[in-house]
Amino acid sequence: MNSVDELLKKTTEATLLRFISIGSVDDGKSTLIGRLLHDAKGIYEDQLAAARKATKNIGGGEVDYSLLTDGLKAEREQGITIDVAYRYFSTPNRRFIIADAPGHEQYTRNMITGASTASLAIILIDARLGVLTQTKRHTFIASLLGIPHLVVAVNKMDLVNYDQAVFNQIREDYGAFAAKLNFKDLVFIPISALKGDNVVEASESMPWYVGPTVLNHLETVYIESDRNLIDFRLPVQTVIRPDLNFRGYAGQLAGGVVRVGHEVMALPSGRVSKVKKIVTYDGELEYAFPPQSVTICLEDHIDLSRGGMLVHPNNLPRMDQEIEAMLVWMDDEPLQPGKAYLVKHTTNRVRGAVSTLHYRVDPNTLHREEAQSLAPNEIGRVTLDLAAPLICDEYTRNRTTGSFILIDLLTNATVAAGMIIERARHRATAPSPAHLRREHSLVTPEDRVSFFGQRPVTLWLTGLSGSGKSTIAYQLEQRLLADGYAAYVLDGDNLRHGLNRNLGFTADDRQENIRRVAEVAHLFNEAGLLVITSLISPFRAHRELARQAIGADRFIEVFVDAPLAVCEQRDPKGFYRKARAGEIANFTGVTMAYEPPEKPEIHLPTHQMEVKQAVEAIIDHLRSQGVILPRAPVTENGL
Ligand code: ADX
Repeated sequence: MNSVDELLKKTTEATLLRFISIGSVDDGKSTLIGRLLHDAKGIYEDQLAAARKATKNIGGGEVDYSLLTDGLKAEREQGITIDVAYRYFSTPNRRFIIADAPGHEQYTRNMITGASTASLAIILIDARLGVLTQTKRHTFIASLLGIPHLVVAVNKMDLVNYDQAVFNQIREDYGAFAAKLNFKDLVFIPISALKGDNVVEASESMPWYVGPTVLNHLETVYIESDRNLIDFRLPVQTVIRPDLNFRGYAGQLAGGVVRVGHEVMALPSGRVSKVKKIVTYDGELEYAFPPQSVTICLEDHIDLSRGGMLVHPNNLPRMDQEIEAMLVWMDDEPLQPGKAYLVKHTTNRVRGAVSTLHYRVDPNTLHREEAQSLAPNEIGRVTLDLAAPLICDEYTRNRTTGSFILIDLLTNATVAAGMIIERARHRATAPSPAHLRREHSLVTPEDRVSFFGQRPVTLWLTGLSGSGKSTIAYQLEQRLLADGYAAYVLDGDNLRHGLNRNLGFTADDRQENIRRVAEVAHLFNEAGLLVITSLISPFRAHRELARQAIGADRFIEVFVDAPLAVCEQRDPKGFYRKARAGEIANFTGVTMAYEPPEKPEIHLPTHQMEVKQAVEAIIDHLRSQGVILPRAPVTENGL
């Protein structure tokens, strides 16, 4: 390969850094970008020219710059009507996309759009003016948007005689503020964008500065670990079905890696299948990762449409109908709590209203203040009640599945951007009353974990009548208490004598039965206790609702699995006999279906194991998950 090709190859394979420059109108943003593009291009062209010269055979055609712009497609397709210009440039070491958010008027809103995919922000400060309220507001938003890397470019150093003391003072002031926020790294560079000092070339006027130039830093900042390659998420954009033989789910990967042969789960249905093919415009792939756009074909026909998501069954997102978020208000019309907006989240749209505005943040001091509403550019913490559950993650975990925008239903304007923060554990079947406020305990979940010495979870035992659920549940409960842990069994039959006395065995009644038990389990977990439920819970969808109500991270599905014939032969309560005789309707396994779990956390084939072994298997699982920590059994005298 000749050296032009090599250079081009290196360039196109180079990592991509998206960044945004942030500053008010006169801080020198455009000058900096212009300088960067111009000088960096110069360098690149010099290298190209050198490479060309060194190559005898340059008849290989023109340089294809479009290779460098491919990254822009995604932005263009995003189709948000906000005025952000994307520019690109590249050096042999890296490709760059700059989101240039112009304007004074709608600056915050433009900045948010530009910053939402950026992994680095350059904050410009005018050396003569120092750290302004604006600077702090922008920095706070950059931190909310989860931009990991920050460069503070102290600009116009030429106008303060390249004075080191001025630079040091700004570094101190800004550092004190930024220390309260969450950035991975923070670099200060004294520059003059106009004169070119420390932008691409090191400054001769500031010999006291020995750090990198802006371009050096952009080229070398370590960004490879910023990407989330763990949590596989494919929000489904379209179902492609050109003919009866092909059905694919198309979308852009929002996280993780997916491979042919991988087991995947479709949400919200909870159906599991395997990846048969990964198709792209450029042919089939063995695996794919963000931000690739792909079409995934599965082994089975399952229920999945636009707004749904493909994930790995053992790495589930949240499915919450009530979410907490930081909201940046962008519309002239202030936020109206209780008013319905359209929530646009990944490929999904649902209606939702802010049920609680917890507080507003003063971006200057970062103090929380009470508020009834949010005016343009104000930032607050809210609870949103949604018309249907969102399949989402916390923003700190995934910037795509963790963010959303609010749209005014009448004007169609984008009124706010939101970052999802923390699990709102709440029932998923009905919206909660918007007029009720939540009170908050003074005891934290961590306090309870250390009090009980256990991480609260719910072991959800499911299986046919007679499969052994209750026997295992009570043996397990006894064993846990003997080892010094606080556990309690919620048994289906027992609860039907009280809490669930008014329920029968229709599918609807079973769903309500499960909803109530899940809510109680959730409360017990909140209290810090381990919960063991023993319910047939025959339908997958109902168990999925229980998982949501309890929280996916606390829900452990245990399949107590004995073949129907075995259960029927055991028939401890004589119910199978009665069901066969037509004396009991809707009997699970006989006249009503049982849907076995597709991917239980624990599988116990009870016709092939002793009760003791089943209990041990569960204990092992709890230990391996760090739910219970080994400790001495409680002795008789309590020591
Ligand atoms: S669930 O389906 O709603 O989860 P649950 O576990 O609470 O059921 O109750 C099942 C118990 O109720 C069985 O163990 C059995 O003793 C009793 N029962 C009475 N009628 C039925 C029925 N039609 N189907 C299943 N269980 C029944």
